[in-house]
Amino acid sequence: MTTRILAISGSLRTDSVNTALLRAAATVAGDDTWFEVWCGLGAIPPFNEDGEDDTPAAVADMRATIAGADAVLISTPEYNGSIPGQLKNALDWASRPYGDSVLTGKLVGVTSASPGEYGGAWAAEHLGKVLRIAGSQVVDPSFSLPLADVAFQPGTAVLRDPAHTAALTELVAALQAAARPALAIAS
Ligand SMILES: Cc1cc2nc3c(=O)[nH]c(=O)nc-3n(C[C@H](O)[C@H](O)[C@H](O)COP(=O)(O)O)c2cc1C
Repeated sequence: MTTRILAISGSLRTDSVNTALLRAAATVAGDDTWFEVWCGLGAIPPFNEDGEDDTPAAVADMRATIAGADAVLISTPEYNGSIPGQLKNALDWASRPYGDSVLTGKLVGVTSASPGEYGGAWAAEHLGKVLRIAGSQVVDPSFSLPLADVAFQPGTAVLRDPAHTAALTELVAALQAAARPALAIAS
């Protein structure tokens, strides 16, 4: 049984440390997991409640992509102590219709990465709150990667510190374990 994990990077930056962290997560997921790093936030238009019934194609694609995953792993940058606007905007789109959205009941793991010494832990905390309010099942433990600008081997998504790899592995394993009972029921 293959577990499908969709990894969403909250950054639009080419050399994003959050995207790198998700690429590192892909390497620890194992062969029985289909793992896709999705970097489509830049195509999502600003949410406007007036026009929410006229769903933009990029939003429909994002919702379908999330709906097709057994679990989602989101890595958020920290901007001014919280999650960046582009990620919040996409989650607002994904959260509609409230209570019956692709986020309702969805298993979601949370990571963050920052060059700062706390690894964007405030943003990770805020992301968990947003997801819970949207009805997602946020899987513990979250993981915040500190000093992320020097945490990878240069030019790669390979983490230098085995303790960071271990923490990331623990989170991915928790997501996989949480997804397995639902997969067993579906088969
Ligand atoms: C507008 C802005 C605000 C930021 N605020 C914070 C912050 O509150 N805490 C923090 O740790 N880093 C902060 N940073 C630095 C980001 O963590 C850093 O740019 C990081 O590389 C962004 O993640 P990314 O590489 O995945 O794009 C901020 C960066 C920007 C552009």
